[in-house]
Amino acid sequence: MLIDFHSHILPGIDDGSPDLDCTEALLREEIRQGVEIVCATPHFYASHVSVHDFLACRKAAYQKTRLMCAETGIGLRILCGAEVYYFPRMGDAEKLRELTLGGSDVLLLEMPFAQWTEDVYRDVRKIVEKQRLRVVLAHLERYFAFQKNKRVWTDVLNLPVTVQLNACCVEDRKKRKFALKVLESDLPVVLGSDCHNLTSRRPNLAAGREVLGQKAGASRIDRIDADALALVAGAASS
Ligand SMILES: [Fe+2]
Repeated sequence: MLIDFHSHILPGIDDGSPDLDCTEALLREEIRQGVEIVCATPHFYASHVSVHDFLACRKAAYQKTRLMCAETGIGLRILCGAEVYYFPRMGDAEKLRELTLGGSDVLLLEMPFAQWTEDVYRDVRKIVEKQRLRVVLAHLERYFAFQKNKRVWTDVLNLPVTVQLNACCVEDRKKRKFALKVLESDLPVVLGSDCHNLTSRRPNLAAGREVLGQKAGASRIDRIDADALALVAGAASS
């Protein structure tokens, strides 16, 4: 089963789909590529919006989308989550669980685009160990270049986290090489399109998956599918 673990398909909530027409086109493209479950993960920035307001906006965008799907016969399953950007002392934040995927214990975490520090490590560890959330690190390939010192990077990846790679990583030589290294490791991996629109950031899961499969092997792709399925198992559509 093809699962797009990371997308910005909900209309008018972030820098992703601007309206329902775009959302419909994005979902039709996902279906064309064989995707059966799309995780709708709009950006959440704690410095910009409260959890309450974010969830209200997401609910309204999701309901509009569901209605459109019913009217147009789009049968894709959509799970609502968030791409939660790291903030200091996040490990102690009480409302993180409200931002998980479909009310499950799975949190898509966007890490700092900077050198990761001990404080970042401590927060991720608290989210995993104290808050008992399953952390998925969004588009891991995008942070690597910032880690001049790899000690915290290594510590974070030694936590029981899942790595999410963007399918578009195959289009960039360095990022493709990085992704293949990750796939050689034993880390749990899931894939996402991180699609925002139909032009510069299109749904591209099938193409990226195919390239990675050619290099990493069908059994690694099977494991990606199994890991993604296990993560969405406790998530409800709502
Ligand atoms: Fe994203």
